[in-house]
Amino acid sequence: MNIMIVYASRTGNTEQLAWLIQKELGRNGLAADYTRIEDFDLNQLSFYQACIVVTYTWGTGDVPKEMVSLYEAFERKEVSEMVTAIAGTGDQCYAHFCGAVDRFRDMLYVHSNLAVTLKVELSPQRSDGEKCGMFVKKVVERLYSDPLLTTILSR
Ligand SMILES: Cc1cc2nc3c(=O)[nH]c(=O)nc-3n(C[C@H](O)[C@H](O)[C@H](O)COP(=O)(O)O)c2cc1C
Repeated sequence: MNIMIVYASRTGNTEQLAWLIQKELGRNGLAADYTRIEDFDLNQLSFYQACIVVTYTWGTGDVPKEMVSLYEAFERKEVSEMVTAIAGTGDQCYAHFCGAVDRFRDMLYVHSNLAVTLKVELSPQRSDGEKCGMFVKKVVERLYSDPLLTTILSR
């Protein structure tokens, strides 16, 4: 199973969230590649069966500029069977809380097999660990409910 966690983070909150998600995948017996967006080769995107995007929000509910090329790659490439999930941190003081998560959600819903979304206020707290667990469970469920994948595994 090829799973990628790709994240953007300026001050560390979103990196912590990405790390928690990776830990939860491990608890489910799944290993994932894990990388900052700056180190991710977009040509590798189609190689993955699942991609978990983790982003902060910038400007006025905007996708951070370093995430725009990833956003556009999902639109451009054939990823309709890829299981995706979008998580992010934001600040409820802003008018559009986690706007980047909403932007990715709407696009991934159209272009991929979107399983779940998650929004976290600033730095993940203890209670967010449980939410990460639920988030990862939804990704895993979607991966194993793919009819094509089930056929391959049962042979
Ligand atoms: C200039 C600026 C604009 C921001 N705009 C938003 C916003 O529109 N919506 C939101 O939910 N959070 C917004 N935030 C809050 C960040 O998304 C939040 O602090 C996030 O946790 C930062 O993640 P990081 O620590 O991984 O960089 C903004 C922060 C800054 C500094």
